[in-house]
Amino acid sequence: MTRITLINGDGIGPEISDAVVKIIDASGLKIDWDVQTAGADVIEKEGVPLPNRVLTSIRANKVALKAPVTTPIGKGFRSVNVQLRKELDLYANLRPCKNLPNVKTKFEDVDIVVVRENTEDLYAGIERQVDDDTAESIKVITRKASERIVKFAFDYAVKNNRKEVCVVTKANIMKLSDGLFLDCFRKVSEGYPQINKREILVDNLCMQLVQNPNQFDVLVLPNLYGDIVSDLCAGLIGGLGVAQGANIGLDCAVFEPVHGSAPDIKGQNKANPTALLMSAIEMLKYIGENSYADNIEKALFKTLEKGIRTADLGGNASTSEFTDAIIREL
Ligand code: NAI
Repeated sequence: MTRITLINGDGIGPEISDAVVKIIDASGLKIDWDVQTAGADVIEKEGVPLPNRVLTSIRANKVALKAPVTTPIGKGFRSVNVQLRKELDLYANLRPCKNLPNVKTKFEDVDIVVVRENTEDLYAGIERQVDDDTAESIKVITRKASERIVKFAFDYAVKNNRKEVCVVTKANIMKLSDGLFLDCFRKVSEGYPQINKREILVDNLCMQLVQNPNQFDVLVLPNLYGDIVSDLCAGLIGGLGVAQGANIGLDCAVFEPVHGSAPDIKGQNKANPTALLMSAIEMLKYIGENSYADNIEKALFKTLEKGIRTADLGGNASTSEFTDAIIREL
């Protein structure tokens, strides 16, 4: 039986991970879930939000499914999510954004894959208080990290029959840091003559995305732009409740939704488990369980086609009603 680390998270995390575990179980696939807790709740008992046992578990199992974990804003502990990516060197953040059946959005046939660098940039968290009225944050871009993320984007494009990879920077202003990322794109892209290359500035990209998203295929971005643009793309396909994600490294991979712990709807049986379920479907494909992944995806699509939807998508199904409907389709 495949052993997979499961981080239930907090906020809506436990509700949606329960739903996804039930759905996978109903598909007939037997998984030995290695359940690990992390976040604010474990600090009291273990002193840190991300105990070593979580990292040890993921390193051993190679694959994890992770529900969202709350990060205090402006103070408190460092994000468990950012730490996980850093500790396990999960350098590629992959966020496919594709329209789902019967989920009404402004645009049809959006099919964009956001590939975000996951380990450096302003996200490295190198900040200092210069004086009471001044704070500094350092943006770190390295050739090593930039080359491997661009290579990941092109390899993904080749493997998944995509036509174009577009690099997103602000290299006209940040000539050295974003300039280095762009330079790496130009060099690495030479090895992929079959894929179209495109370069765009991040501000122009945002405008184009909300006017004509269908022109984009695979996007590759440094960490911070990738973070913002992937939420924008999530909005194009129906919002955070349906946006899946994965953090992939050389040795292991953590699959997680784009959204956070949604404290505003915690414990109300309202949360949409689709984003975590889509992330789990990608995870099953990653471990080679394609037929189970396809069956679960079909059951999810049929449920949506029948108009059964959670409140964030304009429906009135609760988390458990939506989950049960998918299980009936299976
Ligand atoms: P959020 O994504 O949790 O919520 C934003 C809005 O979207 C809220 O109105 C929420 O109700 C709604 N929403 C999100 N997921 C939903 C779902 N599955 N179904 C229905 N509605 C959903 O973002 P927010 O409020 O900025 O962050 C809350 C906490 O989550 C913060 O502590 C943040 O740091 C953390 N976070 C954790 C992430 C992770 O674990 N990977 C990612 C993003 C945020």
